[in-house]
Amino acid sequence: MPKLIGVIDAQQFNKRTLEVVFRIAKEMEKTRNRSMLAGKILISLFYEPSTRTRFSFESAMLRLGGNVISTENAREFSSAAKGESLEDSIRVTSGYGDVIVLRYHKEGGAKKAQNISSIPVINAGDGTGQHPTQAILDLYTITKIFGHFKGLRIAMMGDLANGRTVRSLCYFIAKHYPDNEILFISPKETRMRDDIKAYLDRYNVHWEEHSKLTTIIGDADIFYQTRIQQERFKNKRTLKKVQKTAKELYITAKKLSFMKKDAIIMHPLPHLKEIGKGVDENPRARYFEQAQNGLYVRMALLKMILVGY
Ligand code: CP
Repeated sequence: MPKLIGVIDAQQFNKRTLEVVFRIAKEMEKTRNRSMLAGKILISLFYEPSTRTRFSFESAMLRLGGNVISTENAREFSSAAKGESLEDSIRVTSGYGDVIVLRYHKEGGAKKAQNISSIPVINAGDGTGQHPTQAILDLYTITKIFGHFKGLRIAMMGDLANGRTVRSLCYFIAKHYPDNEILFISPKETRMRDDIKAYLDRYNVHWEEHSKLTTIIGDADIFYQTRIQQERFKNKRTLKKVQKTAKELYITAKKLSFMKKDAIIMHPLPHLKEIGKGVDENPRARYFEQAQNGLYVRMALLKMILVGY
């Protein structure tokens, strides 16, 4: 039985493996097998805050009968606070468990960890790099809702320069779902970076760039909203400017009526002012369901890594 070697980036997946993840995630929605990962230990190493990724991975492990060891805020409460390198922390902790789930504050952290680790590593977000497991649960959610992922227009909105979830999602779309269109909508300071645009071009994915939501509001099937990541801005003046311009992109209750009949709103969460009052209660808002799907996708990934598929 093959095993997944870990999850570092979106590009490592082929379409078949992705489909296996979806199939097992669907089974996990109803699984009663609580002992599949008995005796296995997940090391939860988060150098940045998290609610969904951390709790869903930890819950996934516990639901499948495994155990979890972790630290509150690894930057403060692991020996990183005494100056220990990521490599040394990984070298040591990989002797204590069976899989490491790592959220790191710098791009490339997961790859660095994988190179040193004696056990599989899962990238739970590496700075402004990637968040592949989020993108997999996004794809799972889209295909569950629409029944397919073909011929759709997906508007990616907000802080696209710093958003690792949209970067991973673009890699997946380019390689495996090129028959869709992407509309990037953001303030000019937070536009999608050129490496992703070049990757989409390489796979002939149609993309456009806009600065106003109103220009395309009647055109998209999926509004993938993201927050402005204020913690990533070094220049506070730029941040203020971006926050001001981003108001144009807020999804308010009033704007919902201009969207296509079946258009949906997704968001990796947490959401702030970019999702207006009353939108959470609207049936178009699918982001809490999206977060719930994270549990099933992560159960599937843990099974594929620790047991095989
Ligand atoms: N979507 C996501 O990564 O959320 P958390 O930061 O809460 O894990």
